[in-house]
Amino acid sequence: MSEGHSTYTPKTGIERWFDARMPLPRLIHDSFVSYPVPRNLNYMWTFGGILSIMLVAQILTGIVLAMHYTSDTNLAFDSVEKIMRDVNSGWLLRYMHANGASFFFIAVYLHIFRGLFYGSYKAPRELLWILGCIIYLLMMATGFMGYVLPWGQMSFWGATVITGFFSAIPLVGNWIQQLLLGGFAVDDPTLNRFFALHYLLPFMIAGVVVLHIWALHVVGQSNPTGIEVKSKTDTVAFTPYATIKDAFGMIVFLFVFAYFVFYLPNYLGHADNYIVANPLKTPAHIVPEWYFLPFYAILRAITFNVGPINSKLGGVLCMFGAIVMLFLVPWLDTSKVRSAVYRPWYKLFFWLFVADAILLGWLGSQPAEGAYVFMAQMATLFYFAFFLIILPVLGLIETPRRLPNSITEAVLEKNKGGSGHPAGATAAPQTKG
Ligand code: HEM
Repeated sequence: MSEGHSTYTPKTGIERWFDARMPLPRLIHDSFVSYPVPRNLNYMWTFGGILSIMLVAQILTGIVLAMHYTSDTNLAFDSVEKIMRDVNSGWLLRYMHANGASFFFIAVYLHIFRGLFYGSYKAPRELLWILGCIIYLLMMATGFMGYVLPWGQMSFWGATVITGFFSAIPLVGNWIQQLLLGGFAVDDPTLNRFFALHYLLPFMIAGVVVLHIWALHVVGQSNPTGIEVKSKTDTVAFTPYATIKDAFGMIVFLFVFAYFVFYLPNYLGHADNYIVANPLKTPAHIVPEWYFLPFYAILRAITFNVGPINSKLGGVLCMFGAIVMLFLVPWLDTSKVRSAVYRPWYKLFFWLFVADAILLGWLGSQPAEGAYVFMAQMATLFYFAFFLIILPVLGLIETPRRLPNSITEAVLEKNKGGSGHPAGATAAPQTKG
């Protein structure tokens, strides 16, 4: 997986035997021990590792939960209660899995925003970014289907609303909706296929994560300056430096996670999901899990028809469009400089974008009426303007700050406490093309 020559030397007879037949220890050594990483990585670079352990934790807790869960609409709700009360440590497994989903999304959002801030998606890391976007899509599908399994009120009505939106797609919409549902309404076939897919998708995510990390090891990690590694002094060995930093980040993250699991286990959930699904009783407000709220706000912001596109279809197009924007980021951002550290205007707009995403999330949790609708429309407008106008235009007109000549120079400057960079340092473009 790593570039350059291998530094692995098998020491024992068993190691030599393995190395001659299947050099797996060599691969691990070259990828996670001697692998050179930029020496200036900050804690925002620990979220990839955090995501990896969260994925493993979700899969392990999920497999044990599945041993006790029953995907039958008459039994699903009770089987979850049985897990909570009768299965040994069942309550812990369930709370870990439910909160684990939320913390997985917290980590992925921080990971994505890190990428947007430091321009990690720029050449030559476009494919790495796209693979990340595919993981994110798979995560959303997995989260959505998982929420249906406990068969509470929000499970049922959330599934009804979201699958209903697919019917807005011209020509094939009804067909897609029926394929998702396995019929004409959310029912037993829906629960069964959602369970099957919810079990399958995490393994697909794991597969794409392998590709993601492979692509990362081909191009190497970026870093807060966005300047590529130029010499050996710019890097340190992955182990012990990055391993220790990642381990510390993971421990802190897991402490916060544990706090939620043990002290606030239902804080991120919805009370209505402790009421068994009732197709005859619609809850007052149907809200998805918090991590979908910004997209839900965008979906509901379109309350008007545009030519042949009615408001429902417009909402669906905008919601999917919002995700498509992420895929296009490497080509929408025209700046030759990667990191926001050297782009004062981009930095400002980046933080406005973060505020906009949070605002959309909050609006998604509010009823779609009155001033909330107008605010959601404005926030949606800014969301798309950020990608389609600000990113391309700013890259062309913004004058970046002077860049240091190398990662080492940036580190030494910082340690000296100097704020500026040595005179004569050039603002060389960081990306080709
Ligand atoms: C299960 C989900 C994911 C896992 C396990 C994962 C794993 C990793 C790991 C281990 C790294 C290297 C360490 C680091 O930079 O933090 C990394 C880097 C990266 N990831 Fe992910 N990732 C995931 C999701 C995503 C998503 C959703 C995106 C973007 C949409 C993304 C984009 C990137 C980029 C651009 C880098 C390179 C960063 C740089 O070197 O500056 N990843 N990922």
